[in-house]
Amino acid sequence: MRVAMIGTGYVGLVSGACFADFGHVVTCVDKDPTKIDQLNAGRMPIYEPGLEDLVAANVRGGRLSFALDGAEAIRTADAVFIAVGTPSRRGDGHADLSYVYAAAEEIADLIQGFTVVVTKSTVPVGTGDEIERIIRARRPDADFAVVSNPEFLREGAAIGDFKRPDRVVVGLEDERARPVMAELYRPLNLNETPILFTGRRTSELIKYAANAFLAMKITFINEMADLCEAVGADVQQVARGIGLDNRIGGKFLHAGPGYGGSCFPKDTLALVRTATDAGAPVRLIETTVEVNDARKKAMAGRVAAALGGDELKGKTVALLGLTFKPNTDDMRDAPSLDVAPALIAMGATVQAFDPEGMEEAAKVLDGVVFRDGPYEAVEGADVVVILTEWDQFRALDLDRVKLLLKQPVMVDLRNVYRPDDMRARGFRYTSIGRPQRA
Ligand code: UDX
Repeated sequence: MRVAMIGTGYVGLVSGACFADFGHVVTCVDKDPTKIDQLNAGRMPIYEPGLEDLVAANVRGGRLSFALDGAEAIRTADAVFIAVGTPSRRGDGHADLSYVYAAAEEIADLIQGFTVVVTKSTVPVGTGDEIERIIRARRPDADFAVVSNPEFLREGAAIGDFKRPDRVVVGLEDERARPVMAELYRPLNLNETPILFTGRRTSELIKYAANAFLAMKITFINEMADLCEAVGADVQQVARGIGLDNRIGGKFLHAGPGYGGSCFPKDTLALVRTATDAGAPVRLIETTVEVNDARKKAMAGRVAAALGGDELKGKTVALLGLTFKPNTDDMRDAPSLDVAPALIAMGATVQAFDPEGMEEAAKVLDGVVFRDGPYEAVEGADVVVILTEWDQFRALDLDRVKLLLKQPVMVDLRNVYRPDDMRARGFRYTSIGRPQRA
């Protein structure tokens, strides 16, 4: 199959490289010349494990290329994917669809022969109908079908998620699109991945429902963690105790500083808006959004409390981890964006380190001192805070950390260490939802 992928952001680039690896001929198109130059030079605009090698191998194999001008690729494509950004619109939280609609117009002008137009971008229910209307209005003679095919990729594990997904969801209204989509994903038959064909609106909603449910699950365990602290219970055992029930499932029950990232915050908000507009409000998700926002803001207070007060004047805080989760350089809606400014507002000096995210962090975090490594960040600090669970923070030389700190205080917002171990090593240690005493 010939594929044109419009947008070489996170989703477009990973999906394009993986489809090429499936054996299809893929052109990834982007309006940003620096991105295309970078990609043609073999450099990745994002950090994702395994992506650089996958891209290189498929470029060498002649199945993957990058282009500033998508005309040729779109003209010859069996399937054109729209994988452009859908940021939250400033002001009202609705998804901003201007890039999606601009792509639809470009596609309308170019397609030849029967073409399947696929939205990979996360778009509100009804967007497929609008894309169809736009193309039809511009090119009444065009022969095409519009399909919804949401992605469920996690950053840091995106290639594995694409090649070994739990399921693929395809929403269509025109049956002619079905064999094209089945052929695109044919290699997944090998591992018996279910491909769920639904109506287009249903497929669009599945994506939001999945993300909202996961965000709610995390928020649930975070509230349980607060309750555990209040009543002297252990949230990790609660998570395991409920997670072993297959109806609940053990994943996404890890308590922490609140969810962040490019999807959950944006998609929950967009779902709330869509539901409100449709006259069918989703109150559980409204509350999830509120509780999570408040949680991220409350984390700085835990640091002050660990030092025995409610302010941090004259104190130095070492912050380990700035990205919203490990194995990414993505800072979008990361808890650090709330935590660092709040610490500074309480009077602290913040010395931070992140293995991959410092370049991005420097663009969005004011007043933070960036250090070259975890020990450099810890040196001379009154307290060390683990904010993102990068592997290297799980394996810190704790004796060295203790020597470098002014006083041995750790606030572990990801429950990386064990309270009894830390106490035995002489730390004043607080974590999330676990009893202070064994
Ligand atoms: C998510 C979805 O998992 C993916 O299916 C969708 O396509 C895009 O959004 P991603 O944002 O990359 O993926 O990260 P994910 O690993 O899901 O984590 C999201 C946030 O939740 C992170 O801030 C993470 O730290 C937090 N989280 C996750 C928890 O706090 N606890 C958990 O148990 C799991």
